[in-house]
Amino acid sequence: MDLDSSIMRAAGMRERDRRHVWHTWTPLREDRAQAMFSHGEGYRVWDVDGKEYIDATSCALSAVCGYRHPELDAAVERQLRRLHHFDLSTGSHEPAGLLAERISSYLPDGLSRTLFVNSGSEGFEAAMMIAAAHHAHLGRPRSRVVSFARGYHGSTLLCRSLSALPRVGHLFEPPLPVTHVELPAAPARLRRPDALQPLMRAFERAFGDDPGDLPMAVAVEPFLNVGGGIMLPPGFLPALRRLCDRTGTLLVLDEIFTGYGRTGRMFAHQHEPAAEPDILVTSKGLSGGYVPIGAVTVKEHLHQGFRHDPVLGGLRYGHTNSGHALACAAALATLDLLDKHDLPHQAEVLGARLLERLAPLASTGRVADVRGLGLITVVELATPEAATRLVAQARRRGLLLRRQGPEGLAVMAAPPLTIDQQGIDTLADRLWLALADQ
Ligand SMILES: Cc1ncc(COP(=O)(O)O)c(C=O)c1O
Repeated sequence: MDLDSSIMRAAGMRERDRRHVWHTWTPLREDRAQAMFSHGEGYRVWDVDGKEYIDATSCALSAVCGYRHPELDAAVERQLRRLHHFDLSTGSHEPAGLLAERISSYLPDGLSRTLFVNSGSEGFEAAMMIAAAHHAHLGRPRSRVVSFARGYHGSTLLCRSLSALPRVGHLFEPPLPVTHVELPAAPARLRRPDALQPLMRAFERAFGDDPGDLPMAVAVEPFLNVGGGIMLPPGFLPALRRLCDRTGTLLVLDEIFTGYGRTGRMFAHQHEPAAEPDILVTSKGLSGGYVPIGAVTVKEHLHQGFRHDPVLGGLRYGHTNSGHALACAAALATLDLLDKHDLPHQAEVLGARLLERLAPLASTGRVADVRGLGLITVVELATPEAATRLVAQARRRGLLLRRQGPEGLAVMAAPPLTIDQQGIDTLADRLWLALADQ
């Protein structure tokens, strides 16, 4: 195709998109058709004008193995030629069992039962239903949930009510009572050990001491993603685990973003001992973002509780495409790659390198904080305008970054875990240049 016709073709694609596509989460004044991509390979993507980018957004923070990975492509194609799917509410298929067993193999013994869904939000909906049912099965119903005000667990009605982030507000009364915990320190200071005590005091207050009003569950991310790329103080999850044990509250961990190697461990809670959840919700990286899937992995006794459920006799929850066979096949291939190349370790090593390259940004006077966990690096700017400029200049320089946080100050680099050292160095160079461009 000659240059003129490819320019016209790209213009046509953008025009069609602007006329017909309702972009998720997007204010109407913003133009997503500007950033229209045609193909990708490894940690890079190309837009419809032929410009190349390092994708430090990993698609939707989901492409842990990057784009067009030959082994992922082959696994999905292989499954497609056998059986695209069979409904798990009326039957089963082999990839579902293999995947559920495989997820459990990375977790302690009790966490051995997985319900498949199609997204993180659906996973959280299910987790809340399971938590409520658990307390009903014990004969002392509870319904209240404790969560971070800055937490984010999804965009469905129930999930939205778990968050107090301004853009996640909803138009209806919350479907269940929620106590939101505010951060006792600024995002840049929360990772310090001295933040643990005030944070735990805030959670203890939120739990309360009225035996008739204890929470059914506490829902937290080990690293606050949408809330601003915030790291929590060491010891937080084990302390929360102990508080849950004392009060009979279920610990529901949202590892929708942090799961599957991203933070330098298979799951982020595995950075600390004695932090295992009762319910673990994962999605994004599970299938490398190839085919939608989410997993709700629970302790077996929660599953067995439904055997005696006098009303339902089982969890009456699911979706047409829950545990889609193509998604399970993609997920099994993703986990094979994570294991074969020890990508969690790679994330730790390359993340440390990226953080080392970017940490000096904090002394330029333009950056408020630089922090990181595995292959998540956050550059926090002093003003939202500066963050907007940094993301725009980075894009001009061939680097895709993501904004997070209600103030729009956190700029996040989270490339595919399959990126190499050269890719990390180019990413860091482009980010430095983008900041200098301002
Ligand atoms: C920590 C966290 N929880 C939940 C969700 C919701 O997942 P989904 O968009 O797949 O519904 C997200 C998505 O960004 C997330 O980052």
